[in-house]
Amino acid sequence: MTSPHARGKLITLEGAEGVGKTTNREFIRHCIEQSGHLVVTTREPGGTPLGEQIRGLLLEQRDEGSMASDTELLLMFAARAEHLARVIRPALESGQWVLCDRFTDATYAYQGGGRGVPRSRIAVLEEWVQADLRPDLTFLLDLPVNEGLQRAGKRSAPDRFESEHAAFFERVRQAYLALAQQYPARYRVIDAAQPLEAVQQRIHDVLAEFFVRSS
Ligand SMILES: Nc1ncnc2c1ncn2[C@@H]1O[C@H](COP(=O)(O)OP(=O)(O)O)[C@@H](O)[C@H]1O
Ligand SMILES: [Mg+2]
Repeated sequence: MTSPHARGKLITLEGAEGVGKTTNREFIRHCIEQSGHLVVTTREPGGTPLGEQIRGLLLEQRDEGSMASDTELLLMFAARAEHLARVIRPALESGQWVLCDRFTDATYAYQGGGRGVPRSRIAVLEEWVQADLRPDLTFLLDLPVNEGLQRAGKRSAPDRFESEHAAFFERVRQAYLALAQQYPARYRVIDAAQPLEAVQQRIHDVLAEFFVRSS
């Protein structure tokens, strides 16, 4: 039986700390709504009650020292499995669009690039948890590491990831840029060092083109 709705689109926002993902989320939601689609706005890790509890475990500073990188990876995908089952897949199947602040590319960038977990391990979990579901469009907000950390530092006390060193975030940034090169059809790299108005103009233009392509 065919669905009465076209499947919705999954749009993801990626980039290291402080690049402006959360700042631009409402703007993107507004653009999508203006184009006539219903949109669910969410984030990872998190997006469900259980996922937000897992997020708490992942982000909180722990006295006993670091978490094993495989634990971190598996918790990320545990939260993602819940998110996909309860929020993302049902929304897409009902024809709603989903805008997600970080998704699996963040796992490739942070646990892969940052922590050095082999890419093949992440790919196995991606296959398992997502099957063939991939984002339709990914914004990579790209900014020199120090500028991002400065912006994030003004925002709040650092969480467990934000407490990492600049070298960690440099690996994260490079991993994201490599993903953008690997998947040019779905990635759009935005220069996040520009003033917010210029960033949003560029996002608006990318979305206008995407709406035409996907109509
Ligand atoms: N283009 C920009 N220029 C200057 N400051 C910005 C810009 N975009 C976002 N900010 C500021 O940077 C900080 C981090 O932004 P945020 O959206 O929380 O980043 P992220 O969600 O990517 O970690 C916020 O204080 C935000 O107001
Ligand atoms: Mg954010």
